Amino acid sequence: MESPWYRVNSFEHYKQLYSQSVENPDKFWGDVAESFRWRKKWDSVCEWDFNQANISWFKNGKLNITENCLDRHLSENGDKVALIWEPNDPKEKYIQWTYRELHNRVCRFANVLKENGCKKGDVVAIYMPMIPELTVAVLACARIGAVHSVVFAGFSAHALADRINDAQAKMVLTSDGLYRGLKEIPVKRVVDEALLICSSVSKVVVVQRTSWAVKMKPGRDVWLHEELDKVDSDCPAEPMDSEDMLFILYTSGSTGKPKGIVHTCGGYMVYADFSFRNVFQYDENDIYWCTADIGWVTGHTYIVYGPLLSGATTVMFEGVPTYPDPGRFWQICDKYGVNQFYTAPTAIRALMAQGDEHVLSYSLDSLKVIGTVGEPINEEAWYWYHVHVGKERCPVVDTWWQTETGGIMISALGDHGPHKPTYAGYPLPGIQPVLLDGEGNEFSDSDKEGYLAIKHPWPSMLRTTYGDHQRCINTYFSHYNGYYFTGDGAKRDENGMFRIIGRVDDVINVSGHRFGTAEIEDAINRNPQVAESAVVGYPHDIKGQGIYAYVIVRDRIDDDEVLRAEIVETVVEEIGKIAKPDKIQLVSGLPKTRSGKIMRRILRKVAEGDTTNLGDTSTLLDPKIVDEITEGAI
Ligand code: WT7
Repeated sequence: MESPWYRVNSFEHYKQLYSQSVENPDKFWGDVAESFRWRKKWDSVCEWDFNQANISWFKNGKLNITENCLDRHLSENGDKVALIWEPNDPKEKYIQWTYRELHNRVCRFANVLKENGCKKGDVVAIYMPMIPELTVAVLACARIGAVHSVVFAGFSAHALADRINDAQAKMVLTSDGLYRGLKEIPVKRVVDEALLICSSVSKVVVVQRTSWAVKMKPGRDVWLHEELDKVDSDCPAEPMDSEDMLFILYTSGSTGKPKGIVHTCGGYMVYADFSFRNVFQYDENDIYWCTADIGWVTGHTYIVYGPLLSGATTVMFEGVPTYPDPGRFWQICDKYGVNQFYTAPTAIRALMAQGDEHVLSYSLDSLKVIGTVGEPINEEAWYWYHVHVGKERCPVVDTWWQTETGGIMISALGDHGPHKPTYAGYPLPGIQPVLLDGEGNEFSDSDKEGYLAIKHPWPSMLRTTYGDHQRCINTYFSHYNGYYFTGDGAKRDENGMFRIIGRVDDVINVSGHRFGTAEIEDAINRNPQVAESAVVGYPHDIKGQGIYAYVIVRDRIDDDEVLRAEIVETVVEEIGKIAKPDKIQLVSGLPKTRSGKIMRRILRKVAEGDTTNLGDTSTLLDPKIVDEITEGAI
């Protein structure tokens, strides 16, 4: 497919499209949307009310996103490779599926879903490792109008059960097990454990990835390969309304349980394609690789939907960056001739720490654009990436966005425009970010930090939080009237480039993954020996932020080390290994105000190792506790 008119090709062109998009957003996005396959065109481009969080794009339009990802490409590009899958073990054979093959597999999987009672509007939980069937599963749901809710396969049974129950999922798609580096994990067993407390699920479809023995519950569990034998490959796409749900994806906030962010079909489709082509400067026949997991939004938009909508070849990797050695990423880039490479700062820092020799032995000649996402990238990591991976030849696109935004919001567009380490850059066309002061007033002073908010809707923004619209209003639209509030702090330089500072709420960003401090505290408090806890983030060399937990113990049974190990174990059970506290300090009390509010500012400072300026502690309920905490800091 040739590049459409909205694929930016110079900085001037960007500026031109940007001003068009702001002057007349409806005309701009209406024109972009024209290039997709619609069963029926929309009645209006955008209707919105930020106060009620009511947003619609391409109202009454009818489409199916998989027709745009697959069918649309078949006549001219049916034999082009859509998906390359690189297994964990480099000695295992890779998989390459053309658009025709992928289309066929999606249709057959979709028929399996239908045969097993799944229909339009049903929620399907997908708990699968990075195997090619995961991409097929996601698209199969979209094909028949089922709503996918992908849960990262590193989450615990508890966390999975919470997400299944919240969305009342009818079906779970999973695998027998998974391989990641040297680890082998019995995925199906996690599902079985979760389902002990989920009554909404009546079917489980299991993909065979290993040869391990798996217990199948009669009447509930079926093997995908056996079901596929019973269906054909004819599966017409379900016509969907633009505003029908496409997927739910759970993410953490500062309060309560993770919430299900809801994305809908039409706007998400338009923006996934638009942002993919522009940020990565995708050209026909490029090979594109995003190293994220499809369990996160990055994988949804920039492994599955964006690249396939654009007719690209997308690479999917089962393993980890350090297996069998820390050159694996670069070996894969050379093996397939990857042109665009998209990864996380935490991975860059981890590989940087392993020494330059692992990257220097690969040519990386094919690379054109390299990107990062998930957290601020520090200068040292930026330069390492730029010099050793990009060979000072490839632009680094530092892409800022969120699960809620559905697609990249602020970033350079390939090499069009200035690049500056630690600055994400300019907003994409159609995106109107502003900085607000504490009173909610917009300001434009350079180098002054403020709250990052967006003042006009964009097509791929969240529509609601599943099952609780008021929570969506409260979290995103009521802090500042008339704005979508991101939860991030940011500043702008004299040229208007944005630098993202980090979260301003109680969210910790660990290796690019979000956790609410409350969520981790809840998990820790489940341990019967724990009376109370307070969790804060602290700077961590590899993860960006680490998790520091202050824990008050009651009815102590174990010694310190055993107790710490048990607390970690509780968090692993409640959330998963990814939320393990890095440091646990056992304390006899927490610094609280007289009204009982925990002074997190003090806890953050101590966790950062800075006890010089703790501010006025005299108003605390028990000022002495600060000395104890400072002295016991880890
Ligand atoms: C939060 C969103 C978007 C996919 C991955 C994370 C932080 C994200 C950047 C960046 C600085 C970034 C923000 C944001 N973040 N990208 N390029 N520079 N910070 O999605 O889990 O929804 O997290 O990640 O704090 O709010 P997410």
